[in-house]
Amino acid sequence: MPTNTAAWLVTEKASFLEVKQADYTSPSDNEIVVKNHAVALNIVDFARQFMGNALFPWDKYPCILGSDVAGEVQEVGTSVKNFKVGDRVLGMAVGLKTGRPADAAFQAYTVLPAHMASSIPSSVSFEDAAVIPLAISTAACGMYQKEYLALQHPTAPRRQDTGETILIWGGASSVGTNAIQMAIASGYDVISTASPKNWDYVQKLGVNLVFDYHSDTVVSDIVKAFDGKKSAGALSIGQGATSICAEIVSKIGGKQFVASASPLPPQLPEGVASKFIFGSDLKDNEVGPAIYVDFIPAALKDGSFVPSPPSRVVGKGLEDIQKGLNELTKGVSAEKLVVTLE
Ligand SMILES: NC(=O)c1ccc[n+]([C@@H]2O[C@H](COP(=O)([O-])OP(=O)(O)OC[C@H]3O[C@@H](n4cnc5c(N)ncnc54)[C@H](OP(=O)(O)O)[C@@H]3O)[C@@H](O)[C@H]2O)c1
Repeated sequence: MPTNTAAWLVTEKASFLEVKQADYTSPSDNEIVVKNHAVALNIVDFARQFMGNALFPWDKYPCILGSDVAGEVQEVGTSVKNFKVGDRVLGMAVGLKTGRPADAAFQAYTVLPAHMASSIPSSVSFEDAAVIPLAISTAACGMYQKEYLALQHPTAPRRQDTGETILIWGGASSVGTNAIQMAIASGYDVISTASPKNWDYVQKLGVNLVFDYHSDTVVSDIVKAFDGKKSAGALSIGQGATSICAEIVSKIGGKQFVASASPLPPQLPEGVASKFIFGSDLKDNEVGPAIYVDFIPAALKDGSFVPSPPSRVVGKGLEDIQKGLNELTKGVSAEKLVVTLE
């Protein structure tokens, strides 16, 4: 049995992760074990570290953080048909949802539900693949779950045009760049917001129109841009964005719903509904396999979906994860911080 090591958050709000031994857990029937080559860092990781149980009351200590892994399949459960030992994969580590240390990302070996893992082609590096999981999952939860925007699922090659347009606020974020690409693959046009320095980038990903969210006229500009278009609703990414998206949605007609990656504002315009996204909910419904089994492998292979935003490697080895998390607290723009492990 392989020897496992993890970056442990030993006590609530401990200021550094301790690298030490962890149990190696074999997969159950529908799981795989991945030997991690790269892990990506997310805001929720340092938030869990520094806010402790105020954020997720169910976190127990010691615990292991992290959601994004890419690596090689080490072991497969008896019912798993689509992976074999040695396959190159990315996957969403669901430890935040299950509470089991074996399911978290920041360790040498992670157990993944097989339906939350995707094969990656040889053209995609582990560093680039690791940027995808939590961001695409969060976007997918807001866009495809039935009690959220309930859009058509994405396909590769892309679906026929639906004739509808979605507002994706925060298009240069990790969640936003993944949302844009999936919306296009699902047959929707996209209106988005980003700082002007990122306009070229989000337009290359497929955005039809992009606006500077710092502008005083952004609301009226977007309302005008929706003139003559049918709205599929909005995906809100960024602190404070949900009330702005709700105002826009209330003025443009179409689907009166804002899927929100941030906590909801106290009030919404009459007739507009909104729901906070929990980015790992897709593990337990039809959206998880639709994204990880059906969409990602095909879309990465035919190049219609690219890992986004670009990875920036900030360290090598579990010891460097804390350094990377400290760096992430300073904020990033259209990039994802990654630590390589192999
Ligand atoms: N609920 C969940 O399950 C869940 C899961 C993951 C993330 N999130 C949340 O989703 C948000 C994005 O996460 P991420 O990892 O994708 O972030 P990220 O990549 O670190 O986001 C940075 C980017 O966000 C853009 N941005 C920041 N504030 C904005 C605002 N008010 N309006 C528009 N754009 C804004 C910036 O764009 P410019 O550089 O162009 O200015 C920047 O490039 C965070 O608030 C995070 O906490 C929620």
